[in-house]
Order: sequence, then structure tokens, then C-alpha cells
Amino acid sequence: MRLIRTENYAEMSLEAGKIIIDKIHSNPGLTLGLATGSTPKGVYDYLSQDHKVNGTSYHQVKSINLDEYIGLKVQDPNSYHYFMGQNLFNHLDFHENHTHIPNGAAGDLEQECLRYEQLIKELGGVDLQILGIGQNGHIGFNEPGTPFSSQTHIVTLAKNTREANSRFFNSLEDVPTQAITMGIASILESKEILLLASGERKAEALLKFMNGEISEEFPASALKHHQNVTVIADRDALKYI
Ligand code: PGA
Repeated sequence: MRLIRTENYAEMSLEAGKIIIDKIHSNPGLTLGLATGSTPKGVYDYLSQDHKVNGTSYHQVKSINLDEYIGLKVQDPNSYHYFMGQNLFNHLDFHENHTHIPNGAAGDLEQECLRYEQLIKELGGVDLQILGIGQNGHIGFNEPGTPFSSQTHIVTLAKNTREANSRFFNSLEDVPTQAITMGIASILESKEILLLASGERKAEALLKFMNGEISEEFPASALKHHQNVTVIADRDALKYI
């Protein structure tokens, strides 16, 4: 595992953005695994700015998102479909059929999980996966206790995840209770992984990740089984390391 230490959030975003852009230049048809939340927003701003200024093209790039809430329509401002449009896709030249996010409003959700897992395979797997880390160690929406062998599946969100994400909603009651997420095994199949973390609220999770044991009770620890993980974290997130 490689660790890139940065001073702050802006520098973390820049380091991750540069790696992604380099990969796209060397492989214009890359399959990029994308995440939502506060952490990758700065990276997405950097990619959007670079596209505008330097013209890096995403026309052949395919993207696969990690997860989506169940029960929100795609146009709901809290859906990850909406987030991705606002924060990335509307600013780049992705082909509209090349961006993929689980459909949390599907009639048959079990079928949707199978479809999504199959899709990942059809695209040849993820070349470069961007990940955040939850305060409870979740990756995607794989909460503590999720088997490392899991593929795309339906999850019941942990109480602390709903509380953490309630900052984006009017109230805690409005935060969905379930989501579809790529599984831990699906994530581990990515050829390369960038794990991003910023701020003091991630410091304990990063300490456990870097120094703790490998356990299904701490989902991010599964990444220690992977051969090509780069952690990019800022000073506050690394305060115990
Ligand atoms: P955040 O979420 O980027 O909003 O902190 C990360 C996560 O929960 O995986």
C-alpha cells in the first residue's frame, strides 16, 4: 500500500485528480469507479476544471458508481444520480450511455443487483476505483459485518451512516434506510484503488485502517488484501499516524 500525505483537502484533491488524468491519457477507454459524498467533490472539481482548460476527454471513458440509495427517484437532489450529474457528468464530455449507477428505484432490486454485477464484468472490471471511507470503516455502503465475499447487494444502512449523511437531508427521518452497493469482492476486483480521506472526522477510521487488524467488522481492512491501493490523505485525517 502506498500513502500520499497532503497538507489539506485541496492538495488531496489535486493529487488524486492528477493520477486520474494521467491514467485517462494513457488509456482513453478506461473504466473508472466513482464515489459520492463530500470527499471526492474536490477531485471532481479538479477534473472539471482540467477538462475545460486542457480538454482532457472522457468520451471513451466508462464510469461505474459504487452505490445508490433505495427509494429515491433519480431526479431527487439527494440521489447519487443527481449528485454525479451536478458534480461531474454535466461538466465533462462523457458519452451518456457510458456512465453507470445502480438504480435504487428499480422494481426488482435483487435483479438490479445481478444486472449491475454483470455490467461490471461486461465492462472488463474497474481499472481505477475511487473510494472514500466512512467513519465506521465502510467502503461504498458496505457496513461493518459485510462479508468480504459480497458482490453487488442491498444493504440496510447503519445508524451512524444515516446520521452522518443526514447533513444532506432535511431530517434524519428523510435519509433512506437502504441502498444498493457494489460488494467488497466487487471492489477488490478493481485493478487499482485510490482511497481518499480528509479531515479530523476520518482520523480514527484511518488509524484503524492503517494499523488495525483485517476484519469484516471494519470493511476497509479488506483493501489490505489488494495489491494496488494508494491512500491519499491530508494532515488532519492522518493525525494519529
Ligand atoms: P464522505 O463519505 O465523503 O461524505 O465523508 C464517505 C463515505 O461515507 O464513504
